Amino acid sequence: MLSDGPFVDVERRTVSPRVFYEPEVYERERALIFARSWLYLGHESEIEEKNSYVSADMGGDPVILWRGPDGKARAFLNTCTHRGVKICRVDRGKSKVLTCPYHGWSFNSAGELAGVPARERYGPTFNPQEWGLLEVPRVEAYAGLVFGNMNPEAESLVDFLGDIRWYLDTQFKRTAKGRVVFPGVQKITLDVNWKLASEQFGGDSLHVSTAHRSCKPLGMLGDPNKFHKGAPLQYDFNVSTDQGHGWASLSPDVAPGTPVEQFDAYEAEVYRNAPDCLTPRQKELTLTGAVGFVFPNFAFISFLGGFGLRLFVPKGPQKTEVWFWSAADAEAPDWRKELSRQLNIRSFTAGGVVDADDNEMWLQAQKGLTGYFRRNKPFNYQLGLGIEGVYEDERPGRLDNIPIESGVIGFHRRWHQLMEGGGDRPYLAEAAE
Ligand code: FES
Ligand SMILES: [Fe+2]
Repeated sequence: MLSDGPFVDVERRTVSPRVFYEPEVYERERALIFARSWLYLGHESEIEEKNSYVSADMGGDPVILWRGPDGKARAFLNTCTHRGVKICRVDRGKSKVLTCPYHGWSFNSAGELAGVPARERYGPTFNPQEWGLLEVPRVEAYAGLVFGNMNPEAESLVDFLGDIRWYLDTQFKRTAKGRVVFPGVQKITLDVNWKLASEQFGGDSLHVSTAHRSCKPLGMLGDPNKFHKGAPLQYDFNVSTDQGHGWASLSPDVAPGTPVEQFDAYEAEVYRNAPDCLTPRQKELTLTGAVGFVFPNFAFISFLGGFGLRLFVPKGPQKTEVWFWSAADAEAPDWRKELSRQLNIRSFTAGGVVDADDNEMWLQAQKGLTGYFRRNKPFNYQLGLGIEGVYEDERPGRLDNIPIESGVIGFHRRWHQLMEGGGDRPYLAEAAE
């Protein structure tokens, strides 16, 4: 018997396919998720100099992250206040002023309207101070990662990150200077809902040995089946957090073509010199592979010797842009930086052998879930339900053996909480009627 049921049943751990395509859900997400969450904008290493900027995106709205003449990083909607045209049309640059290509209004790196053609014909009531770029009210950074929030009343970024900070530290603070993000961003557009990508990075370790099976003969995965053998919780484990963030720690592996001796010597040095702000347990995890996810749409991978960041940019109920960056330790020698960049591009970017599998699976899932009859039967997120362990040590969040879907449903649980919006009447119950 087909039934509508609730959009997200957190107890039974099921999710309705309708959340992945309904236009009304998407509009509510823009208001209740993307307008209220901390969203990744860029990395401090990309905008080190005054007046440097990168293009960013906040829930489908184009944004510029721009370091002002005073050294402060600000974010603005990338849309002209005159008639809406995008004022910045490149991914990255440096300029004191950006000029709109339509009628030539120009804006400085503090967001002020700095020049207006035919200025004298605007009359006496025109006040340029009212027509500066629309500024994102909150911009904060953690470990080099810069986030923005459209909600002026939002909790601090540190509080928003919550339990995931402990794990972020193992990857973004493993050396004193942190990470550096290389110039160049890859973008791919997929006809899928953004949540198919986000939920996977929330902790879907089950798909690895099936969807990425073809990586095994290529030598790209040491032993994908190790995740099914109850690998020791020491290095291979999943973390889910109340904030909807997720983490998977994976035994270290390197891709073919890696100069293993040189690589191991470098990693050993990183471990030996890890800063003292990390605990011994955190230091140990600096060398493991990691897939991390910050709710709602930012993720990174440190695996197979590469290191990359990614953003799942919603562009419609059934359209998502995925943005990919490559990164490395800021003080790594050039060979290690280049290796990190190449390995990440080869495996985990738009044309990477690993991502090609995921893209295909998401496209197939999206096609399947919009079927007229299929849409009424909820999806299953019950892997681990009732057999999850309770492990307690200094590692925060809920820890479990891999594979488990507690992180995947954890993403949907948080989504559900925010979509209910704290109103008198839960939106999702209302929508399911
Ligand atoms: S739209 Fe930008 S100057 Fe007219
Ligand atoms: Fe994958």
